[in-house]
Amino acid sequence: MRKFIFAANFKCNQTRAGFNSYADALNSWISDEEIIVFPPSCAFLNRNLRFLQGAQNFYPCQNGAFTGEIGLEQLNEFGINCVLIGHSERRQILGESEEFLRAKFEFAKGQNFKIVYCIGESLETRESGKTLEFLGAQLKNIDLNYENLIIAYEPIWAIGTGKSASKAEISEILEFISRKTSAPLLYGGSVNLGNIAEIYGINSCGGVLVGGASLDAQNFINLIKETK
Ligand code: PGA
Repeated sequence: MRKFIFAANFKCNQTRAGFNSYADALNSWISDEEIIVFPPSCAFLNRNLRFLQGAQNFYPCQNGAFTGEIGLEQLNEFGINCVLIGHSERRQILGESEEFLRAKFEFAKGQNFKIVYCIGESLETRESGKTLEFLGAQLKNIDLNYENLIIAYEPIWAIGTGKSASKAEISEILEFISRKTSAPLLYGGSVNLGNIAEIYGINSCGGVLVGGASLDAQNFINLIKETK
């Protein structure tokens, strides 16, 4: 069977009680898909999960004087060994620089964590015809040979807008990235029930990173079922 990864990014949504019910639903359904869920850190669960629980964010430290952050000690308490790095909301809203992202990457790599590293261009970059150049520069920031790496291509203009990139646009970019790394490649940006089958049909696509359409467990399950 083709390996396809379904990753859910809750962003600043869900509570621990809500995620607990969500986990019940997913636990009782999952068969053989690779599923990763990134809840907010205050909703992390310490229980049997039949999917991977990942962290949306962390500070590259064991612990220490980093107000408002969580470090390795807090991730370890929940057995978390998978992290999201480079999401455009953290780059843009929280101002995470390439340098800081590299520090996070190196830290997570040092722990042998699974890293879902996000890249993506703005509408302005796309319209200027410099998308490949821009993405190529973003990729230069990390070790593309890292064995636990997953790359998520998420065009910023497609995130949360209801306007996914087209099949041709996704294929072009994923093929470009696949010439640089053998890491699995995800697409993210308004993935939903209506477009998942088409995205699944893209050969170079190894999975999806889903925001809005992953928040409801049944909706996320239905989305996965569309690929069967
Ligand atoms: P979206 O978000 O599915 O709501 O567009 C995807 C993401 O930001 O990872």
